[in-house]
Amino acid sequence: MPAASGDVATRLLAWYDAHHRDLPWRMAPAALKLGGRPDPYRVWLSEIMLQQTTVETVKPYFQKFVDKWPTVSALAAAETEEVMQAWAGLGYYSRARNLKKCAELVAALPGARFPDTEAALRELPGIGAYTAAAIAAIAFGRPAAVVDGNVERVMARLFAIRVPLPEAKPQIRGFLEPLVPADRPGDFAQAMMDLGSSICTPKRPRCMLCPLRSDCLALVEGDPELLPIKAPKADKPLRRGAAFVAMRQDGAVLLRTRPESGLLGGMSEVPTTGWTARIDGETTENAAPFPANWVKTGQISHVFTHFSLELDVFLAVVDLPAPPGHRWSPASGLNGEALPTVMKKVIEAAIPGATKAFQARGDL
Ligand code: ADE
Repeated sequence: MPAASGDVATRLLAWYDAHHRDLPWRMAPAALKLGGRPDPYRVWLSEIMLQQTTVETVKPYFQKFVDKWPTVSALAAAETEEVMQAWAGLGYYSRARNLKKCAELVAALPGARFPDTEAALRELPGIGAYTAAAIAAIAFGRPAAVVDGNVERVMARLFAIRVPLPEAKPQIRGFLEPLVPADRPGDFAQAMMDLGSSICTPKRPRCMLCPLRSDCLALVEGDPELLPIKAPKADKPLRRGAAFVAMRQDGAVLLRTRPESGLLGGMSEVPTTGWTARIDGETTENAAPFPANWVKTGQISHVFTHFSLELDVFLAVVDLPAPPGHRWSPASGLNGEALPTVMKKVIEAAIPGATKAFQARGDL
């Protein structure tokens, strides 16, 4: 029987009371104890942003969103293009499209109130099992088991689970559910996350400072750093292509908008070839969208969830009306375009300095 007992939550929450991170979407434990409730809109927005993105990256985006759109109804009424622009740089753009759709659905509910159960939250676009549990626990005090990567690591060590991930997920959930305290499930979930990010870290965990060191089976067995065990990941396939940056004398750049659905849906891009596994002569200037004096200025790489991409980058200075489906975006307006990071890299490789403002924001 694992050593972890009912006292785990008590010890963890005492540690959280003293050491929690102050994050802009959080309500301090002391305020919660006085009967405060976090705003479900802020909890939802932060959890969507935090999917696949770090806390430090999310902070300024979160602040920008709540300044511009302080309520779910305000976000629902915003122009989709403006939301995509505000999101640009956070990556995984389907999240931004689902964010907008979800806001519209919630704004249409009575009182524009979010549903308050895991099951009802899961019905909404962009809200999967993890996010539904996190919102239910943090915003509504439901005793949901919230399992993200940090929590998996803490649990695998606490119970010395040697089954590799992802196979170990049901076991982790099974051990976690009975630990969730009925009175502070949201703080418990966030305490597990904070412990995982500051003490029970992937490398060199700081076990001497851990409030759960007396409960931790991996510490007894001497090898917390070796857990969790992860099944080897399949290598990502490599795709290749070419991107064509056409620039006017006045610095404007030729852009088009990607189709609404699919990868980077609705985002802006320079014209590119298809992104394919095989190089077959389609990534030279022969594949350019129109004849011009194309000069190869470099190559960029970018890693997506399911593949890595290498793009040869070509630049031409041209004086043409925009071809159908394209538009000239003035140099001064590039910053306001919904350009995904891969396209900022492309433009920077062709026109060094064009995306300085993006770099200053930390997007590249
Ligand atoms: N990652 C995802 N949700 C989080 C939260 N509420 N606090 C800290 N890190 C998180």
